[in-house]
Amino acid sequence: MPTILQELPSDLDQDRLPRHVAVIMDGNGRWAKRKGLPRIMGHRQGVDALKGLLRCCNDWGIQALTAYAFSTENWGRPHEEVDFLMTLFERVLVRELQEMMKENVRIQFVGNLADLPRSLQEQIERSMQETKNNRGIQFTVATNYGGRQEILHAARAIATQVQQGHLQPDEIDEALFSRHLYTANVCDPDLLIRTSGEMRLSNFLLWQMAYAELYITDALWPDFDRVQFHQALSAYQQRDRRFGKV
Ligand code: IPE
Ligand code: IPE
Ligand code: MG
Repeated sequence: MPTILQELPSDLDQDRLPRHVAVIMDGNGRWAKRKGLPRIMGHRQGVDALKGLLRCCNDWGIQALTAYAFSTENWGRPHEEVDFLMTLFERVLVRELQEMMKENVRIQFVGNLADLPRSLQEQIERSMQETKNNRGIQFTVATNYGGRQEILHAARAIATQVQQGHLQPDEIDEALFSRHLYTANVCDPDLLIRTSGEMRLSNFLLWQMAYAELYITDALWPDFDRVQFHQALSAYQQRDRRFGKV
């Protein structure tokens, strides 16, 4: 049954797929609430939705997927929810590493990783090391990530180079700045998907999103599946990306 859509649906144009899809996985809490379940059950279900999307991107030939898993602002949630999420990330990483190797996924984490629990940092390091030579999809997980924090981090690194005399201020251009962001190894997202109807960026990839096409769906993240992704790609292929030109 789930094999039906394994190949790229015939109405989509292989040559006009986004190279990089970014996703704000929102609505886990509301999904759980609607079912009368605790919020954490929504997060658990959200992992399955992410696994499904990763596999789908891989199957359909998309080169990069970036998922927003935890923002710098999400520390402000109840302690138990934050703890649950950190433990969930760690468990999922341990559990899915073999599968990612089999599917040739290269995983990386972006964000202020040093403030994550030590044991999670270790699993992150391990998963990045083990998958770094894989040649399939580049899968980036934004964890303790904030767009403003990332820009400040880059600005500080560049300022230090100037201060040490390795760089002149007029050598700082967009390309150099981009190389100092966490996402230096991937192109900017072509398509941003946000679930659960919220029309905001919530501090996600602020610099990189300059010309991303935005697709917002009312579907809650745990319900986001191949059919929904197909709809997002169809909408994307109907867009006229002008990049400021006529
Ligand atoms: C997104 O779902 C997951 C994270 C931010 C970790 P939410 O937990 O924000 O779900 P809602 O928005 O409360 O429904
Ligand atoms: C954005 O969702 C962060 C992640 C999906 C990890 P939030 O639920 O935290 O965003 P706001 O609070 O609605 O802006
Ligand atoms: Mg939310």
